Amino acid sequence: MTRTPQDRSGEPNPLRVLTLDRLRRRTSMKWRTYPEDVLPLWVAEMDVPLAEPVVRAVTDALRLGDTGYPAGTAYAEALADFAGKRWGWSGLAVERTAVVPDVMLGVVEMLKLVTGPGDPVVVNPPVYPPFYQFVEHLDRRVVEAPLGADLRLDPEVLEDAFRRATGAGGRAAYLLCSPHNPTGTVHTATELAAVAALAERYGVRVVADEIHAPLVTGDARFVPYLSVPGAERGLALMSASKGWNLAGLKAALALAGPGAAADLARMPEEVGHGPSHLGVIAHTAALRDGTAWLDALLAGLADNRRLLTGLLAEHLPGIAHLPGEATYLAWLDCRALGLGEDPAEVFLSRGRVALSSGIPFGTGGAGHVRLNLATSPEVLSEGVRRMAAALR
Ligand SMILES: Cc1ncc(COP(=O)(O)O)c(C=O)c1O
Repeated sequence: MTRTPQDRSGEPNPLRVLTLDRLRRRTSMKWRTYPEDVLPLWVAEMDVPLAEPVVRAVTDALRLGDTGYPAGTAYAEALADFAGKRWGWSGLAVERTAVVPDVMLGVVEMLKLVTGPGDPVVVNPPVYPPFYQFVEHLDRRVVEAPLGADLRLDPEVLEDAFRRATGAGGRAAYLLCSPHNPTGTVHTATELAAVAALAERYGVRVVADEIHAPLVTGDARFVPYLSVPGAERGLALMSASKGWNLAGLKAALALAGPGAAADLARMPEEVGHGPSHLGVIAHTAALRDGTAWLDALLAGLADNRRLLTGLLAEHLPGIAHLPGEATYLAWLDCRALGLGEDPAEVFLSRGRVALSSGIPFGTGGAGHVRLNLATSPEVLSEGVRRMAAALR
């Protein structure tokens, strides 16, 4: 397989380390939701061992009994340093950050700061299903602004949604997914500046979920929302959780632009009691010392993305797929296969491979599935073989 320029670290590809037998000993959602004969390629967990610096930091903390409450700004400092080196962004101000329990609870807290009950929150379907669940649970109203056919933000559709969201007066927010789950779309600086201008024009507050930011491969460049002109009143959430597979070690960071500092300052102190101290330690170690591991992972993901494209062309040519440049997720358009609204159900029942159903991703999700390619090339190949077998 071809190597990408990211693979210079000498680190082994983490996607090739663990055997299926070993992975099946895991007790997390990916491995315990379906029976043993089902190959799980669904929820966003990766089939990787943890980066050694993370293991060391957490193990050292356990040995020391350092299992109290989180304190300090080490996580934010590590992220600021990472953002400077990785994305050339020097504007992450540690004093305008707060540690939150995880990204989705951080989204909830940010939305509470800038909207009230019944207020609209604009999202871009197809999008990560919890965007609907958490927003509705918070008693906010989802307003959809679907991505275009090219799976990119459509400024006219977004403007129309902002107009509808603010038409009756009142407050409105826009929950931006950047990079976008499930399509892997990496929004450009120009697109994000247009978002910021539109949001300012309509008085819509932007909350950018940037959890997938470390997972950008190839020529694409991640642009932090708060770095674009006009985004001063924006809020963002970042985390090491997706990049280093740390969802079970809860922590995330809420960030505010200079014009949103007063909003973030209103976040109740008790929100900071939610994150786990071990989570903060793990995330900090990942950002500070886990970049070689991340680069090896990104090279492996780029290989897998190419592998998937080839496998689909060979075994499932009826599936349309626009490969993304970020995340480890692939959004597959199965409508031409004639499997109905929920092809994931067919692939599961007939092929014994678990993919995420497209339906909960909102408008444009029916007839689609999301495949998690953060696994070994062998498991990925077996997954596609099972999908193809389901059609026979
Ligand atoms: C876009 C997006 N936001 C948030 C999350 C969940 O993050 P957390 O576990 O930190 O709430 C995910 C998980 O896959 C995600 O894809």
